[in-house]
Amino acid sequence: MTKKIVALGGDGIGPEVVDAAIQVLESMNLDLEILKPLCGEAAIKKFGTPFPKEAMDLTNQSDAILFGATEQASVIILAYLRWVLDTYANLRPIKYYEGVSTPIKDPEGIDFLIVRENSEGMYPGREGDISLLAEKLPDYKDLMGKSFADFGKGKFAIRIITEKGCKRIAKAACEKARERKKRGFSGKVTCVTKSNVLRESCGLFQKTCEEVIKGYPELRYEHFYVDDMARRIVRFPKDIDVIVTSNMFGDILSDLAGELMGGLGMAPSACIGDRYAYFEPVHGSAPDIAGKGVANPTATILSSVMMLEYLGMREKAEELENAVKAVYEEGKVLTPDMGGKSKTRNVTKAIIQKLK
Ligand code: NAI
Ligand code: MG
Repeated sequence: MTKKIVALGGDGIGPEVVDAAIQVLESMNLDLEILKPLCGEAAIKKFGTPFPKEAMDLTNQSDAILFGATEQASVIILAYLRWVLDTYANLRPIKYYEGVSTPIKDPEGIDFLIVRENSEGMYPGREGDISLLAEKLPDYKDLMGKSFADFGKGKFAIRIITEKGCKRIAKAACEKARERKKRGFSGKVTCVTKSNVLRESCGLFQKTCEEVIKGYPELRYEHFYVDDMARRIVRFPKDIDVIVTSNMFGDILSDLAGELMGGLGMAPSACIGDRYAYFEPVHGSAPDIAGKGVANPTATILSSVMMLEYLGMREKAEELENAVKAVYEEGKVLTPDMGGKSKTRNVTKAIIQKLK
């Protein structure tokens, strides 16, 4: 049956890289109906809102969503995709392709997966004046016996970690590690927290991961604190199989890890929920290069590979990934972030040619 894809470019380079991915997908003659409702900056100009009803309705009926990036004015789109559609498992593969420029000396064989909790933690920002906490929680005291009233003027941010949130992300990570083990990976889940400081919230995350993994006797488990893990990603990237972590730690670690595979122009992601899934590059709207036609479309094209896998088109996904691989192996058509002079459209064309 034809799968319905809704493409939401968003802002900045978002529409540029999403258009590139659509061109590639359309060249493959797949059983996909790709819809492109207006959203983001363009929709604000025309309708006065970044996410018009038509775009939202189509999104609600989609089998999968291909997303670019948004800036503050259109952030409602991102909020809808993540928190209304509850796409709680953000999968961010870090995989080195030969020919890609990376700051790592010996990148051959880097291939791991970051599973980032996408629905809670520090997101969406739940913040306010400290005086509100002082008023609502007059008896609360921290380790040093300090109460909120003792701070004076300032702001707070709340980090929510729920049992349900921990369980479902731990399970998603274990399922991915099991799947990868069948493909020859080591079968290890690395839980990353800051439970030495955040003993309650990170403590719950860590404890839940430890419990969930017991249901997967074929997998190994380890735990590291997030600061130590940042170092390990740089120093021992090939020892990693699947990382599972909370929202903000995953956000930060995945930009860092993305550099191992050539940077934000390369790093793809998938956000999967029980009913909806959307696919987006790790990067944002890149206002510094927007409109210049030089954005690297690879991260979004590799996100489309993840989308095809999700839709059960495994062979086609592999075909597309191999086309990307071939372009980098050849190393002739590269955008400036990869040390080349080519435009977005040249890289797109090169990938399409490899598909033929
Ligand atoms: P960014 O990821 O947009 O850009 C960081 C750097 O990487 C910039 O120098 C940019 O030129 C470069 N870069 C990013 N994607 C690239 C590509 N495909 N090809 C070549 N170079 C690329 O992050 P930044 O600058 O922190 O944020 C810019 C805006 O994007 C902000 O408004 C931010 O809130 C938003 N953002 C949105 C995200 C989303 O919608 N999921 C994710 C991250 C940021
Ligand atoms: Mg980010």
